[in-house]
Amino acid sequence: MAYKAPRGTVDILPQNTEKWQKMEQLLRTICANYNVKEMRTPIFEHTELFNRAVGDTTDVVSKEMYTFNDKKGRSITLRPEGTAGIARAYVENKMYGYPEKLQKIYYLGPMFRYERPQNGRQRQFHQFGVEMIGVESPYVDVECMLMAVTIVQSLGLKDITLHINSLGDQDSRDAYRDALKQHFKPVINELCHDCQERYEKNPLRILDCKVDKDHQSMKNAPRTIDYLSDNAKAHFDKVCSLLDDLDIDYVIDTNLVRGLDYYTHTIFEVISDDPKLGAGSTVGGGGRYSGLVEEVGGPSAPGVGFAFGLERLMIAMGDDNNETEGIDVYVMPLGDKARDLAMQLITVLRAQGFTCDMDYIGRGLKGQFKSADRFKAKFSIILGDDEVEKKVVNIKSNTTREQVEVALNDVVSYIEGELYE
Ligand code: HAM
Repeated sequence: MAYKAPRGTVDILPQNTEKWQKMEQLLRTICANYNVKEMRTPIFEHTELFNRAVGDTTDVVSKEMYTFNDKKGRSITLRPEGTAGIARAYVENKMYGYPEKLQKIYYLGPMFRYERPQNGRQRQFHQFGVEMIGVESPYVDVECMLMAVTIVQSLGLKDITLHINSLGDQDSRDAYRDALKQHFKPVINELCHDCQERYEKNPLRILDCKVDKDHQSMKNAPRTIDYLSDNAKAHFDKVCSLLDDLDIDYVIDTNLVRGLDYYTHTIFEVISDDPKLGAGSTVGGGGRYSGLVEEVGGPSAPGVGFAFGLERLMIAMGDDNNETEGIDVYVMPLGDKARDLAMQLITVLRAQGFTCDMDYIGRGLKGQFKSADRFKAKFSIILGDDEVEKKVVNIKSNTTREQVEVALNDVVSYIEGELYE
């Protein structure tokens, strides 16, 4: 039987990993630039964590989680997102007691959601996320948005818009919840079964219903922004004025609610209109979560963060920039003695820090030159049994096409001289 990767998963093949690594490196460099440190948490957590943190009326928790019992009957879930695990680890490791009150953390890795696969949507996908926990200040919200904008700019993404909104604090959310209940009450029987449950448990989630999204009542639903408390409004106004001062373009999108329950105050999404992704695709999103750390058993420690889907960034970046780095040297032995020496030669060259490879299978020159081309080798070292006797090699520059004879003992210094001249 021929095995296939499970639906919604993808193999990232050697010819593509360089592009991934470059993107990851750029993300890590931006994190260093913002003084954000990496944290690595488990890929699976107790299911209860996500029920609690993300919310059991969200689609992510109620429909999309990979949940199973382990051999001792504990319910385990493959993480559908990173924020809950970071909040759990922050509490468990008492990071709230660290001398630096604001902990700035990033993570990068696979996440799992049982969704219908399509362009830019997989069941195993990768997120790069940032969480800044410990301080409730609009400056930190803006720091996150600035970082998100820097990322898409550095990756060269075009047709990008930053959408922002505010859900407000607990008072604002309570007032908004009442307004939503009043609004949907007369039509609740026309909405789907899930919405009827959401109406009782968490009416905000009605707004991200995929079934009823075109129902008239969705179009004129109350807006969060009209129910902000004074405190929440002041927070949001400050966020907007800081963005203005920094010349960051944004639109206030009063329809934005985000699909996870932990959000309070500022929420935002980075939306791409690049046709490669489809107009209006969200490449990243996030927001503030004032109560999450307490919700998972910690002290009051408000946070804010965001995450990008790396597959979506990759699609939006397109195929430019797909140049792979070549190796420095490809060694081409012709004969058995030459092959023995070639192995020693690449060992010496590698020890000096050069990237090299050689032919191991006794091909003729033509086949070996083809490999040198495929590996984009800067130099080919040709080595026949005669040359072994004479203790010389022929070094061909694959850029100038010139070939010179070099004494075996001088190979390293020759390559060094040519590459670092
Ligand atoms: P999210 O909006 O659920 O937020 O996901 C963030 C990003 O992950 C999305 O914008 C999208 O690019 C990518 N993504 C989500 N699902 C998939 C999928 N099935 N396939 C491919 N990409 C996907 C969060 O996860 C929050 N934890 C973000 C956050 C961090 N909020 C505060 N801190």
